[in-house]
Amino acid sequence: MNSTWLFIPGDKKKFLEKVNELQADVIIFDLEDSVVPKDKKKAREMVEAALRQTKPGSRNFVRVNDIHSPFFIDDISTLAGTAPDGIVIPKVNTQDEMMIADFLLRNYEKANNLAIGSISIVPLIETGKGIMNVVDIAKSTKRVEALAFGAEDYMLDVSIPKDEGNALLYARSILVTASSAADIAPPIDSVYTDFNDPEGLKTASLRSRGFGFQGRLVIHPKQLETINEIFAPTDYEIEEARKIVEAYETSFNDGDGALQVNGKMIDAPIAERAKKILKM
Ligand code: COA
Ligand code: MG
Repeated sequence: MNSTWLFIPGDKKKFLEKVNELQADVIIFDLEDSVVPKDKKKAREMVEAALRQTKPGSRNFVRVNDIHSPFFIDDISTLAGTAPDGIVIPKVNTQDEMMIADFLLRNYEKANNLAIGSISIVPLIETGKGIMNVVDIAKSTKRVEALAFGAEDYMLDVSIPKDEGNALLYARSILVTASSAADIAPPIDSVYTDFNDPEGLKTASLRSRGFGFQGRLVIHPKQLETINEIFAPTDYEIEEARKIVEAYETSFNDGDGALQVNGKMIDAPIAERAKKILKM
């Protein structure tokens, strides 16, 4: 699981040059909305070069253009040769689109002597259709590592004028539930666009974690520290989890499946959740 998935616009030379200094869990080289159509080809070449120079052990994804765009095929045929860890596909609406992407990746993997299935996919769910088909999309191919949520495009697509609290609650929750139903990792939440508002980012990220997301998409390096901190369990949470697991195991062995720790009832799912925190 990864907390920070940082976008770098594919045509920004200055940003690309410093890629190896960034403390993000995953870098996403963007070829979609941060690159204007006339620069798509140039960006593709720049990202191809950047991918060949990433440091060992780093995780690198490319956000290609959507499958209905005139750029999609060139994006993936060019970039498959550099063996990225995965691709982010924007505006995924259906399982069929995923099958097409899977088929093409398989061919490019073969052509480049890469292991079949080595390039994973993170579908970006950001349309009403994508939300309604989300379980099928999540289950469509073994390549799906996790789903990601694109709040800005989603609001545009379904005509939500402004996110005032609960408007995106259903979309966020269904992404988390669909990921579990498809046996994949928890999803990745949308970007927080106001990168000069650390308090707002903190509040929004605590909410994302509370929903069950594994982390979030990031647009600016100065957002990384806050997000990394929020998605890691706190010392208090770890200590509490340890107490719960120990008390539950002792009680279970003594024949009691429910007990209390610090005045709260503990049973199997609560003990399992505490184990998950310790595993993190
Ligand atoms: N990746 C890598 N480096 C980045 C970065 C990013 N996404 N955003 C900013 N930086 C670097 C800049 O190069 C600069 O480095 P320097 O101090 O060595 O010169 C430093 O961080 C400060 O940048 P700043 O001046 O605050 O930002 P900006 O005005 O140059 O850029 C954005 C602001 C929003 C345009 C920029 O952060 C960006 O392009 N983010 C990604 C956008 C994107 O990919 N959108 C599509 C997905 S939603
Ligand atoms: Mg988008």
